[in-house]
Amino acid sequence: MAPTESIKHAAASLATADKNDLSYILRETTMSTDKADCGDISLLLKKMGEYLDRYQRFEHDDAMQQPAHWRDVLNQPVPQQGVGIEKLMEEIGMTLIPNGSQIPNPGCTSFITTGATNAGVLANMAGAVAAPQRLGLTAFNYLEELSLDWMAEMFELPSHMKGVYSSGGSVANLVALGAARQWVFEQRGSDPARDGISHRCHIYTTRACHRTVHRAAAVLGLGRDSVIAIASDSMGRMLPNALMKQLDQDQRGDIVPVAIVANAGTTGTGAIDPLRLIGQLARQYGVWFHVDGAYGLPGILDPKVRHLYDGLELADSVIVDPHKWLGAPVGIGATFVRDRSILHRAFTQQASDYLEGSFADTKAEHSMDSSGVPYYDFGVELSAPSRGAVVWALIREIGKEGLKERICRHNDMARYVAEQAHAHSNLEVVQEPTLSICCFRYVHDEWLDLDYLNQLIHRKMVHKGRSIPSTTLVNNKLAIRPCFVGARTSWQQAEELIEEVIAAGEQVAAKVCPVPQYCLLKNKNNKVAG
Ligand SMILES: Cc1ncc(COP(=O)(O)O)c(C=O)c1O
Repeated sequence: MAPTESIKHAAASLATADKNDLSYILRETTMSTDKADCGDISLLLKKMGEYLDRYQRFEHDDAMQQPAHWRDVLNQPVPQQGVGIEKLMEEIGMTLIPNGSQIPNPGCTSFITTGATNAGVLANMAGAVAAPQRLGLTAFNYLEELSLDWMAEMFELPSHMKGVYSSGGSVANLVALGAARQWVFEQRGSDPARDGISHRCHIYTTRACHRTVHRAAAVLGLGRDSVIAIASDSMGRMLPNALMKQLDQDQRGDIVPVAIVANAGTTGTGAIDPLRLIGQLARQYGVWFHVDGAYGLPGILDPKVRHLYDGLELADSVIVDPHKWLGAPVGIGATFVRDRSILHRAFTQQASDYLEGSFADTKAEHSMDSSGVPYYDFGVELSAPSRGAVVWALIREIGKEGLKERICRHNDMARYVAEQAHAHSNLEVVQEPTLSICCFRYVHDEWLDLDYLNQLIHRKMVHKGRSIPSTTLVNNKLAIRPCFVGARTSWQQAEELIEEVIAAGEQVAAKVCPVPQYCLLKNKNNKVAG
């Protein structure tokens, strides 16, 4: 009922109402300011689709050029009266979407998270409408387990490894390390989830590991400083001898070794640690072996690098982020463990009065009965979206072969960029690619501070917006770092990236540093026009 109609209706009813009707009528009248549209959605989706199509052509001005404008438009006081769905749609379409992120732009290769493909967006939306929880006997929930099993099979994890979804690599690492902590203290006769811990612990990894490992250690009560950086080679890969030395030393001290964290694709360079040697040491010393494959696990599909994953089957836990190479909408990570009962002991909320009897585990026949898999006790989330349907949709749409093609294409593109950089006198490869990342930089005779030169080149490229790589430090050298992962990102972007680095390099070198000595002495403190 439209608001004015409902007020008229309430007024007419009031005239004839007895006392018992009054509270109902008042409730109706108050409700009439609740303008939430809960009706048919198809026309709104059509409109939204048009706005999104326009955005995905990436023809609009870059958001960074006009923040003052959209901030002014959006910066409103709390609306006392809602604007209604039509006006809201207009605001989403005209102000929000055009000023979104460049991340889905095919030329954007800076983040490892990427623009979602349509299948994932649509499955995400279907879940939001039809299964807004990861609970119960629903088709969506069925896909939770099926899609985890599909990924395990595609990425060659042993069949006994079972998974759980979470919001991304950060939480996936936390969940895996929570399992490690549980297991290692259970070996020593205690229950860390129940009792907490007071012992000094170590987690072994390399300097190149993702900082979410340190945060997980902090959250789990081990402390950030429990994360020990084991020495690595010039490619950033862990040196097993150095690991063994540290494990021996800790065995003599009174330190609990909680986990070894190996990388299957570091964030900076895509390096893959020697998994078999590390896994064997983990077995030998009785330490949990975790593999962070948030970015790089799908790389196993590329026959040119598959051998680098040798030993993956020794892992006690492995993570992968579907919101990276698989092209899922952001908010999906997965942890696989060799025994999910460890996760249950580590993360259970235990029985609660408020849920008692709500979900029947036996005789499941209704969507409000239990699916039988307590995902809500395998990690840190109770309420969670149906992520499995998204991953299922992505794999169902293009199949393993489609994903393999994407991964091989991106890895080949990184190798191509390296070849081009080797062939150009002003480019230098800083790290040969392992997967789809190539670290290289612009060099110039008159510049001593190449880190600064490449920073300037990078900023210039970002603001131009055709090729948007990131930068990273590799063995203390600042490199331009494209990471090819987006489904929309293809050979054209590899070509353009090289062109853009060379063009920006020539411009910056010529414009910013007309007098080399001046530049060498002062460049870090000077603001540069360009
Ligand atoms: C290797 C690795 N692990 C963990 C993470 C954290 O993942 P998320 O950003 O999904 O939390 C990242 C993010 O890029 C990563 O590259």
